[in-house]
Amino acid sequence: MVNLGWCPPAGLIDAATATYNIRSQHDRIRELLQRARAVADAALDGNAPSPDAVASAIGDIHATMVVHSAFEENALFAILHDRLSLGLEHMKRLRDEHARQRVILASLHREAAVCPELPLLAAKLTFVTFWLMADMDEEERTMLTGATSASACDPTLGTCVGK
Ligand SMILES: [Fe+2]
Ligand SMILES: [Fe+2]
Repeated sequence: MVNLGWCPPAGLIDAATATYNIRSQHDRIRELLQRARAVADAALDGNAPSPDAVASAIGDIHATMVVHSAFEENALFAILHDRLSLGLEHMKRLRDEHARQRVILASLHREAAVCPELPLLAAKLTFVTFWLMADMDEEERTMLTGATSASACDPTLGTCVGK
């Protein structure tokens, strides 16, 4: 699992801090997904780095997304609280999408655990990387705009979650 650089906040966090930390997690997840896509591409070409490389990448993505979606649902209360007119609709959409992601990733992870060398896994892994990348882009376009500030990530101020 990729290190998302996050530990639970001691108390409420502000919208700018929440936004900064979600974007930071997205950057790390994008790197994870790019590595996973390279593994899937190699496997589809018959050159997997190891027999269980695809299954291992699926497990990493599943574990990482469980942590990320839990953080995001908590942190977004801070962001959406600042935009009450948008809050309920966006929160419902986010939770629905997270529920869908949890089901699909858990199912794929189970499949990978049972049959780690199944050829179809690489194609499914490729799909998952594109799907999750698109979802993060969508979240940043619709929910994470306008709430960032430089002070949100200044560790000297003690405001940056995960520092
Ligand atoms: Fe999300
Ligand atoms: Fe996200």
